Amino acid sequence: MVKTILVINGPNLNMLGKREAEHYGCLTLSDIEKMIRVEAENAGLNVVLMQSNHEGEIIDRLHGCMNICDGIIINAGAYTHTSYAIRDAIELVALPTVEVHLSNVYARETFRHKSVIAPVCLGQISGLRAYGYVAALGALKAYFEKGEL
Ligand code: DQA
Repeated sequence: MVKTILVINGPNLNMLGKREAEHYGCLTLSDIEKMIRVEAENAGLNVVLMQSNHEGEIIDRLHGCMNICDGIIINAGAYTHTSYAIRDAIELVALPTVEVHLSNVYARETFRHKSVIAPVCLGQISGLRAYGYVAALGALKAYFEKGEL
């Protein structure tokens, strides 16, 4: 049975390509989504891609993926540092979840060093730009195959 991964990109990530290239690189969200689709197909995974600037919409999509998806990749943007509501939704959905950041959040302002969602995720990838999503797909594939990492 082909596994399905919900890939969530949060606020301001629709503006990639126009945001600070020194942190986020030059690719647009559409470029990154194409890369994710190609890598997922090569890995034999199905992906559902979404972006939203709205916390409630992200939470609704997390709820909606229960019993439909097998794993989650999330770049929650600035909600990473503040949203207990997104954290609680990830916890309740209880699917293996990988947190991704394009930039190295630990090399930036201290408010970015804290992730409130990290404790309910399998792990976090930060600073690998778009390759972070590819690494997250690989980690979830390994997790599905072995039941652990
Ligand atoms: C980000 C890092 C966050 O601190 C920031 O608010 C973002 C993008 C990243 O991908 O590096 O919007 O999640």
